[in-house]
Amino acid sequence: MKILLVGGGGREHALAWKISQSDKVDKLYCAPGNAGIAELAECVDIGVMEFDKLVNFAKEKQIDLTVVAPDDPLAAGAVDAFEQAGLRAFGPRKNAAILEGSKAFSKDLMKKYNIPTAAYETFDSAEDALAYLETAEFPIVLKADGLALGKGVLICNTKDEAKDGVKTLMLDKQFGSAGNRIVVEEFMTGREVSVLSFVDGKTIKIMTSAQDHKRAKDGDKGLNTGGMGTFSPSPFYTEEVDAFCRENIYQKTVDAMREEGREFKGVIFFGLMLTDKGPKVLEYNARFGDPETQVVLPRMKNDIVDIFEACIDGRLDEIELEFEDNAAVCVVLASDGYPGHYEKGYEIKGLENFKSKDGYYVFHAGSRFEDGKIVTNGGRVLGVTAKGDTLKEARANAYEATKWIDFANKYMRNDIGKAIDEV
Ligand code: AMP
Ligand code: GLY
Repeated sequence: MKILLVGGGGREHALAWKISQSDKVDKLYCAPGNAGIAELAECVDIGVMEFDKLVNFAKEKQIDLTVVAPDDPLAAGAVDAFEQAGLRAFGPRKNAAILEGSKAFSKDLMKKYNIPTAAYETFDSAEDALAYLETAEFPIVLKADGLALGKGVLICNTKDEAKDGVKTLMLDKQFGSAGNRIVVEEFMTGREVSVLSFVDGKTIKIMTSAQDHKRAKDGDKGLNTGGMGTFSPSPFYTEEVDAFCRENIYQKTVDAMREEGREFKGVIFFGLMLTDKGPKVLEYNARFGDPETQVVLPRMKNDIVDIFEACIDGRLDEIELEFEDNAAVCVVLASDGYPGHYEKGYEIKGLENFKSKDGYYVFHAGSRFEDGKIVTNGGRVLGVTAKGDTLKEARANAYEATKWIDFANKYMRNDIGKAIDEV
């Protein structure tokens, strides 16, 4: 088979690695890819939102299957564009990707179908939102309705902070049109877990759990980022939690989408919070997580191409997902300053240390070639993943492997997986 993967970050590098393990694959292309992905795939200089060019490329190269990984093209209808051209593509269509693309949609869906989530109100005008805040309880959470690179969520401890937040989102439009509408939500406390799943429209199969670290600095301080590191499995995702979510969240979400005429095929990522009143949905994503994918896929035993095809063809019930009985930890190496201002273009040294080392992976998130060298090209630069028999062993291995890499302004959190010590 010839496969085209759309995207160019750490998640896509992990996907490219997993896809290239499949016996079915003769040739893998990636648009646009990055310097790490280039070792596994032929990178093509087409942006993820250039649907016409992507479709033409897929026709020209007779691509058998396209995998669309990032949220923006999914929400904008990339899969629809391929299907309209008679091509096979993995991922939700536009009318289903709205599960992530609109927080107001997903909250209304959960309310209608009785899926546990935080209480909320939706506002289309700043005036109404500000009036609501007068009698609200704090802390409170403000969310831009649309896609905002995972950064359109403000947790406000006081009324004044919340008022400023409404201004930032709705009047100053810091996240553009994503803030035309906002969701104001009850603040929940508890441990967060990421659960990825494959869905074929009717059947849902759950992958192993993971936990992300969204804040930039140790001790969960600093600004929200795309994710600074992950571990898998989450020891807090117990059998009891799993049973509750299977009964109250997972299948109900798939059925609700079908009921709404928005059949979902692809990956649903459940962002869960384990509150003292039971697990609740924080958010849905309509795609693989980044950097969750970097710890989940290295532990997956299945041929991922089989799963993609089963999802598209509606026969996921025939597939048994299997994961290794071990653990993985990913530590993100970022450019100092991320998610604020940072510099790029610095040579990355030490990548060769990962060659043929079983259980160690270096996934490129932001890298490119320059004069025959690989240089930094983003806020998140690399994801260093290591496996181990236990979470503690995996964490020690991952931190050891971070020492193999060097580049100017290298920054990482030193407490990825600290929660493991509480178990
Ligand atoms: P989201 O993009 O909706 O997942 O929000 C980003 C992050 O904000 C989450 O991972 C949580 O850490 C936090 N968050 C979102 N909603 C809530 C909530 N209702 N209560 C507490 N924290 C929240
Ligand atoms: N790691 C969180 C996300 O992919 O949205």
